[in-house]
Amino acid sequence: MPPFERHVFVCHNFRPGGAPRPSCTIEGKSDLHARLQQLTKEAGLAGRVRINKSGCLDQCEHGPTVVVYPEAVWYGGVKPEDAEAIVAEHLVAGRPVERLRMDHGCVNAKSCPHRG
Ligand code: FES
Repeated sequence: MPPFERHVFVCHNFRPGGAPRPSCTIEGKSDLHARLQQLTKEAGLAGRVRINKSGCLDQCEHGPTVVVYPEAVWYGGVKPEDAEAIVAEHLVAGRPVERLRMDHGCVNAKSCPHRG
């Protein structure tokens, strides 16, 4: 079997109330991962694109966070209803969804307008 063409990590981290940083899910639950998996399968990409739940991706202030490799395209503020665009435009057509991309200066930055 050939290697995966793309790997999609969907942050599923949850922190209890009062934590110093926000979480990408509420109590570890989100429909985003399941929706991405379902649409990827329906698009015929099963076995070519892997959709994984991940722990914290350290971009918490921009969450819910998704990253697509090998392009290293970071998406922020992703809602379950955005899954359709990510699958159709990025995973099928190869064009990242610009409206969902994190600002370049925010990715892995120690400080940015969203992070204190
Ligand atoms: S909790 Fe999702 S990136 Fe940190």
